[in-house]
Amino acid sequence: MEKGTVLLLEKTALKQIEEAKSTEALNNVKNTYLSKKSELSTLTSQIGSLPVEQKKECGQLINSVRQAITQAIEEKMVLLKNQELEEKLEKETIDISLPGKDSNLGSRNPFYVIQDEMVEIFLGMGFEIADGPEVETDLFNFELLNIPKDHPARDMQDTFYINENELLRTHTSPVQARAMKAKKGSPIRMICPGKTYRRDNDDATHSHQFAQIEGLVIDKDINLGHLKATLELFVKKMFGEKREIRLRSSYFPFTEPSVEVDITCANCNGKGCAMCKGTGFIEILGAGMVHPNVLKMNGYDPNQYSGFAFGVGIERLAILRYDIDDIRKIYQNDVRFLQQFKKVS
Ligand code: DAH
Repeated sequence: MEKGTVLLLEKTALKQIEEAKSTEALNNVKNTYLSKKSELSTLTSQIGSLPVEQKKECGQLINSVRQAITQAIEEKMVLLKNQELEEKLEKETIDISLPGKDSNLGSRNPFYVIQDEMVEIFLGMGFEIADGPEVETDLFNFELLNIPKDHPARDMQDTFYINENELLRTHTSPVQARAMKAKKGSPIRMICPGKTYRRDNDDATHSHQFAQIEGLVIDKDINLGHLKATLELFVKKMFGEKREIRLRSSYFPFTEPSVEVDITCANCNGKGCAMCKGTGFIEILGAGMVHPNVLKMNGYDPNQYSGFAFGVGIERLAILRYDIDDIRKIYQNDVRFLQQFKKVS
């Protein structure tokens, strides 16, 4: 066995180790010089057949060469692995300053924006929320509200009948009667937001389905001043401090006296313009003092108790607030329309 051959083998191996540019290349080198089939292994197996005096020296030489190669490979392997990891991290870096993908968030329908706002205002004044069915009986929708059969007020609210006795409610007012029956003669301060139905032809200002918020306050010594103050506060919170209200006398079978409530036109500040048809005011709701017959029919003594009630269209307020030109847009779910309300919801 030539000593020179072994040393040359070491030199070549160390050179190849030094030149290896990747862990893969280094593994190949390792395979070439340290595997069972490597030259070094062959030489090792030949030691046994050498003359005794050469055995030791050759054995030591081969061992030291094997050690040198093994150590060089281990050191280089650590180096290359680190290098490869760094390259990988470099490549996978995320640029956090890049704009993210738009998740296309939706927006709330202006109807619900307004409804929630209205409810919030009344809750703040101590009103409770009451509820009632949308399929109502003739009794609650009309009779208990002082609208007997053949009363002309029924014509104005012609609606969808389920049968002789049941119909889709034409207003939220039946919830007044329901609340009175439930409270059994004790004071009431409630609102009821809900859907209502009328056999209207759908056009820019009418829809067969719309929503109202009903309000009812019953207690001892309630008077028209309480109604006015309540609605004034509501209007100012809803439309701004500058808005004034006006009560105009009107007629509803379930209130006496009855009023229609107008607010100063936002477009002209009460001066009169095309929007308010020159009047300076825009009508927003109906109200009045609960009719003694209604109190009586629903279990309250009109000599002891009095109350006020109001009914306000939710879409109507949404239209006024956002200057919407067609009520139907509120129901059509057209994203081009809805997206305009992203900022307000
Ligand atoms: N229910 C009436 C309607 O739908 C609105 C209304 C007027 C409600 C006067 C009231 C009220 O509570 O007092 O047109």
